Amino acid sequence: MTPQKVDICFIVAMRAEANGIIKELSLKEDETFASSYPARAWKGKFNKKCIAVVINGQDNRHKLDLIGTQAATLSTHLAITHYNPGLVISAGTAGAFKEMGANIGDVFLSWPYVVYHDRRVEIPGWDEMGIGRYPVFDVREMAQQLGLKTAIVTSGNSLDMPETDEKTIRKLNAGIKEMEAAAVAWVCSLNRTPVFCIKSVTDLVDVDHPTHQQFQTNLKMAVTNLCAETLKVLAFLTDKQ
Ligand code: ADE
Repeated sequence: MTPQKVDICFIVAMRAEANGIIKELSLKEDETFASSYPARAWKGKFNKKCIAVVINGQDNRHKLDLIGTQAATLSTHLAITHYNPGLVISAGTAGAFKEMGANIGDVFLSWPYVVYHDRRVEIPGWDEMGIGRYPVFDVREMAQQLGLKTAIVTSGNSLDMPETDEKTIRKLNAGIKEMEAAAVAWVCSLNRTPVFCIKSVTDLVDVDHPTHQQFQTNLKMAVTNLCAETLKVLAFLTDKQ
C-alpha cells in the first residue's frame, strides 16, 4: 500500500468525540483506509493542509466504540502506515484534578510528556519503561497564545481511579487522566512522528461525584469545547507551517 501523505492526523477514540471536528472541517470518509480492523478515517483540507481524523471504530460484539490503549495502538499504527502524517494529535475527553485548578469543560494541551499510570513493575528499568514518559511536540507557545492550560497527560485502561493509580498519578505530577494518549505517543515515537494531545475535561477525579456519572453528564459540553479549541489549534499550526 502506498502511504498517502497527510499533514496532521487526529487519533480519536470515540465517534462522539470526533463528530464535531469532522463536521466543522467538512471531512469526507476515506474508504481507502478501510481494512479488516474497526478503525475508520475521514480526510479533507484546512488552510491548504491535508487533515485526517482516525477513530478506533466499534467492538464487533458489543457494538460500542473501542476505548483504551490497545485500540489506540492499532489505530495509530494504521494511521501512520496509511497516511505517514507530519504530526499526530491525540484528541478526546479526559478526567482532571480540581485541586490542580482544572474545571469541567477546560481544554488542555499535553506538556512536557505523556505517561502510563497502570503499568506497575517494581524492577529497576522496567518501572521506568512501564511509565513510558514519551516526550511531546512543544506546545508552550501555542498554549500561551490560545490561552490553553497544559499538563502531563497520563493513560490507563480504566475510567475509575483506584488508590494505587491515584498514588502513581500524583507521584508523576500528571494533571490529565485518560485512556489512549500514551499508546498513541508510543507508536509515534517508534516512527519519529511528532505528537501532542488536546483533551477536554468531562470529570474531576478528586471530587466525591462518581466519574462515570460526571462523564455522561458533561460529554456533550466537553466535546463542543474540544471541537472549538481544536479549530483554533489547527489555525495556529497551519498559519505557522
Ligand atoms: N475519559 C474521560 N474521563 C476519564 C477519566 N476520569 N479517566 C479515564 N478516561 C477518561
